[in-house]
Amino acid sequence: MNLYDQIGDEKIDLLIDILYDEIIANDDRINILFHNGFEKVKMEQKRFFRMYLGAPGNIFSMPNLKQKHYIFPISAKEARYWAEDFEKALEKLELDETLKQFLAQKIRTLASQMINTVK
Ligand code: HEM
Repeated sequence: MNLYDQIGDEKIDLLIDILYDEIIANDDRINILFHNGFEKVKMEQKRFFRMYLGAPGNIFSMPNLKQKHYIFPISAKEARYWAEDFEKALEKLELDETLKQFLAQKIRTLASQMINTVK
């Protein structure tokens, strides 16, 4: 069983809804970067996380995430804030603790790969 099988569609969707609607919407450190509301981002992220966690499909249909973020200045700070918000959302989700910790660790690495500016 991969992470996708263990977490499942329903909880992936719930996690992303909590992340944007409850956490990032209220996090003024980074929500200023989001100009078009959260609906499209949430939809794309739900798609992304299915693939990232191991849903069956073609790896080449993965969006080029880093390139899509070049227009937003993401320094080590923004990446850390985003990862912190992800962990807060994860805390609100009912999920096995070991799985949560494993996922949080993966996300910290992924978020640091999104850094595209020093300031
Ligand atoms: C693991 C880290 C991340 C993942 C998986 C992720 C994923 C995504 C996805 C899938 C989209 C939608 C792209 C599209 O339109 O096709 C998106 C948009 C966006 N992301 Fe991220 N992202 C991550 C980290 C970050 C960080 C660290 C920031 C900065 C704080 C950020 C800011 C944004 C913004 C501003 C948008 C566009 C919103 C708009 O269109 O107004 N992301 N992200």
